[in-house]
Amino acid sequence: MRVEHQTIGMGITSLSRPDQAGWASPGEREHHRAVPDSSPHSHRSGFGLPQEMIFDAQRTRRVFEQRWFFAGTRGDVTRPRDWMSFRLLDDEFVLLHGDDGEIRCFVNRCSHQSARLLQGDTGTTSARLVCPNHQWSYSVNNGQLKAAQIMGPDFAASERGRCSGLDQIPVREVAGMLFATLGDPSVLDDLDEVETILAPYADPFALAHGGYRLAHHHREVVPANWLMVMINNRECGHCAANHKGLVELFDPSSFNGTSSATYDALFDAAAQRWESMGLAWREQPFDAHDSVRVARYPLREGWKSITFDGEPACSTLIGEWDHHESSTLSMWFNPNAWVHWTSDHIATNWVLPIDEDRCELYSSWIVHEDAVEGEHYDVDHLTDVWRVTNAEDVGLCNSMTAGAKSTWYQPGPFAPQEQFCRQFCDWFVRWSEPTASDRG
Ligand code: FES
Ligand SMILES: [Fe+2]
Repeated sequence: MRVEHQTIGMGITSLSRPDQAGWASPGEREHHRAVPDSSPHSHRSGFGLPQEMIFDAQRTRRVFEQRWFFAGTRGDVTRPRDWMSFRLLDDEFVLLHGDDGEIRCFVNRCSHQSARLLQGDTGTTSARLVCPNHQWSYSVNNGQLKAAQIMGPDFAASERGRCSGLDQIPVREVAGMLFATLGDPSVLDDLDEVETILAPYADPFALAHGGYRLAHHHREVVPANWLMVMINNRECGHCAANHKGLVELFDPSSFNGTSSATYDALFDAAAQRWESMGLAWREQPFDAHDSVRVARYPLREGWKSITFDGEPACSTLIGEWDHHESSTLSMWFNPNAWVHWTSDHIATNWVLPIDEDRCELYSSWIVHEDAVEGEHYDVDHLTDVWRVTNAEDVGLCNSMTAGAKSTWYQPGPFAPQEQFCRQFCDWFVRWSEPTASDRG
């Protein structure tokens, strides 16, 4: 069977197709500053972002107000009272799994004197959220104030007390994935499309139905502008030179933006297998869907999961799988995430901006709820590929940030195989423009 194939570029990084062009090639820019081909002030599609846009906190905030962002999955906060925190610009939030089964996102700030309610990355609360400062306590379901001892026994039920619940931002769950926004969800339409697109790909994993647990998570403050991390994520021209471990997991020719007879044959055989299994596999590209890209890729011959040695990452399978399937389902989501699904675990990644020079990178590895560490998986073996790859990317993103701050900075052109960088930059500019209300 001859199939339209997809070629790889992964990493923190994206898999890419070589057949789309239409924007500037590097050759267009062979002269230099005397004839700049992209203004430092306005964006030109096919080029990197203008410096002032990269470091414009208001632009970044508007993206998170005008779109949903990826905040985690049901597998990160599996049981009632499980929580995970994240930083976004000046604020800290907590995703909390309520006793009622719903997952909400609270501002991690006590209504009394603004102390942080929960300290750290993840954890499990008691029956109430209790502030460590003066023990005001809140419902794990709706964030309502339940008791405030030092204010007297009647305070929580008073009018003032009823207005002292925790602040929340909207959360919406799609296929077990949790999206949040700083904006008004009634006017955001991006997730409707994502839900429709994703369903046939995500259904075999049944993440929304539970049965998972968090095997490991890693969170770090990255010394890089968040846009540099996203641009790095959206191409794999850097992979061969910088991810010598990662590229071993895939057919080598799939990384260079071209294809070879070897990769064509591998992909065709895999596509036939996926067809026979009834698996959705055809690429859903960004250009058609704006906020999301989904694709399934074959792993190297004989590889059973995303591990450096090709052995299963976990001996317990997830979802509806009955064998270790030699492929990965990958999702890239604008503005801030990429998720890789295999038959024995799900690896999630998101990045969120803190300030112009720093962002937070979160990675998690989610396995079957019955999987036991030491028996069914080894944490290092399970997590090595993305921990190593992400660490390699952090250095590149830090370096790109330094370059973007240079007085000599000009937006550079994207190569044809960097089409997802172009898409991301165009998307960012579109959704970060001032709205009518911003302009007054
Ligand atoms: S600051 Fe939280 S109870 Fe006082
Ligand atoms: Fe990378």
